[in-house]
Amino acid sequence: MAASGPEEIPAFARDHVASVLLSAEEIQAAIARIGAGISHDYVGRDPVLVAVLKGSAPLIADLLRAIDIPVSVDFIAISSYGPSARNSGVVRLLKDLDQPIEGRHVLVIEDIIDTGLTLHYILRTLRLRRPATLEVGTLFNKPARRLVNIPLRYVGFDLPDRFVVGYGLDYHERYRNLPFLCVLKPEVYGG
Ligand code: IMP
Repeated sequence: MAASGPEEIPAFARDHVASVLLSAEEIQAAIARIGAGISHDYVGRDPVLVAVLKGSAPLIADLLRAIDIPVSVDFIAISSYGPSARNSGVVRLLKDLDQPIEGRHVLVIEDIIDTGLTLHYILRTLRLRRPATLEVGTLFNKPARRLVNIPLRYVGFDLPDRFVVGYGLDYHERYRNLPFLCVLKPEVYGG
């Protein structure tokens, strides 16, 4: 499938993008596929989708509209304890779920799984609340970097070990609003 042409890159980011890895169309096609899978697998189970803020915001918005069975949505927000703890898996819960999940079929929706440590913490926290089932769907997956094993029910794309932005993923809170996934030029990280 063709990648997005330069004309589709917003002006503010045009000089920052080194290459587009996945076009908006490719991303939307993967979300349609995951949505169809969820609609099939969870029919009659009234699932709760738990989106992890902030990176999953565009994904949950598009994924909800690709699901054609009754579904609830809830949000958690977490933050790592700073750069030195980046790979420690120690994270802080900034916003908890609004509703109890005991006895519910819970599907955690992630934007990207890298080492897996963040999600490992989230799953451990949610499991204590005794959901009927607890599964994970992620749009982007970096298997080469995994430090803990996490079974994934739905995966959009396996990615190489590169830092990517766009479609919810940021570098210093920027680029989340790009509709495609891309790699930035090295000089962007320098300055
Ligand atoms: P993990 O705990 O190593 O799996 O890290 C997961 C979190 O790190 C994600 O939720 C993202 O916020 C961030 N992250 C990992 N890789 C990337 C990337 O390539 N671009 C942007 N953020 C990333």
